[in-house]
Amino acid sequence: MSTTTAPVKSGKGLEGIVAAETRLSDVKGDIGELIYAGYNINELAGNVSYEEVVFLLHENRLPNTSELNALKQELASYRELPAGVVKILRELPASTPPMHALRTGISALGCFDSTADDSSVESAKKKSLQLIAQIPVVTAYFHRLRQGKELLASRSDLGEAANFLYLIDGVAPSAQKEKTLDLCYVLHADHGMNASTFSARVTIATLSDVYSAVTTAIGTLKGPLHGGANEGVIKMLKEIGSVDNVDAWVADAMAQKKKIMGIGHRVYKTLDPRAPHLKKMANELSTQLGEPKWIQMSDRIAEIMFKEKGLNANVDFYSATVYYSMGIPLDLFTPIFAIARTAGWTAHIVEQLADNRLIRPQSNYTGPVGLVVTPIAQR
Ligand code: ACO
Repeated sequence: MSTTTAPVKSGKGLEGIVAAETRLSDVKGDIGELIYAGYNINELAGNVSYEEVVFLLHENRLPNTSELNALKQELASYRELPAGVVKILRELPASTPPMHALRTGISALGCFDSTADDSSVESAKKKSLQLIAQIPVVTAYFHRLRQGKELLASRSDLGEAANFLYLIDGVAPSAQKEKTLDLCYVLHADHGMNASTFSARVTIATLSDVYSAVTTAIGTLKGPLHGGANEGVIKMLKEIGSVDNVDAWVADAMAQKKKIMGIGHRVYKTLDPRAPHLKKMANELSTQLGEPKWIQMSDRIAEIMFKEKGLNANVDFYSATVYYSMGIPLDLFTPIFAIARTAGWTAHIVEQLADNRLIRPQSNYTGPVGLVVTPIAQR
């Protein structure tokens, strides 16, 4: 029997509304804590790999060595893309922003899977691992194609982070580079009912399909108020140019009511717990590179925003400097976020499917009532 309750009016942007039950992750905005399936992010960061987090989110526990090796092998076995998907990526204009290419590539993968519409949980679990393995390859292949470079075959001896770096650079990464990207993946893997995860759950709740749900999520992540902010951070730092210009630039931006990218969060009212990990990496890398000005400018912006508005840096603020210092092109920052978050998106998709009900809120109608149609010739 269906139960209907009286509509509850939410804050603008669904602020404060609980949209799902989840065992996957908890964002404690008041105390600045992030939990993945029982583990505090500070406990996981530096102690487990991205693949272990994939296992944790999908199996609700950490793997032992043989389970981890089996997962790594399974992911490696799924990396090759259907030739038709590569052909589609090849046809895209080189000027296509990579997030558009990624959204198109993931959508295209669904066209080459004859079981795409199988909405069983078992099938969704398998497709989840396939997508986790293929999304970095779609990103890297488009990046190579737009530069007119040959495509490389994935290396089964490399983990997810290292294989992605190998595919874009053409050489296996240093241990430091691999470790850095792997930690970024761990920190970005899941985050409660964020906008892209919510959109993925809405799509799968109609019993659409996993490819459609991940495609929806990519489109949602892309915006500058969500994952797209990391690209905006470096653009902002480049525009500011030097530490001496920060105060005047920020004052001017605030006077114009512009949003400072990488600052503020809907849920965290204190420090985003991922930010200190990224800040530490950003500090080390930009100093090694001999360009400490990026982190110096960032620190000054964060200081001003906290003092003036009580706002803190979010995950995108320092991840931007980390990727930039690793030599990763600016427009791959958000795709990297998407690669890591596919672990969370797919775990939420499976969780939603396992106990599904259509997600269908209401709206509060504010338009006119009782209008009468004037015949078209008289309008
Ligand atoms: N720069 C300047 N002022 C800000 C910022 C910012 N980055 N963020 C919030 N504010 C101010 C608003 O102007 C508003 O001030 P007011 O009350 O004086 O008008 C107040 O803080 C509340 O801001 P809202 O926009 O209502 O907060 P909301 O919860 O809707 O937005 C969001 C959260 C989108 C993250 C916002 O802080 C923002 O736009 N940040 C910049 C973009 C960004 O970094 N996005 C990444 C978020 S993390 C992620 O998705 C991975």
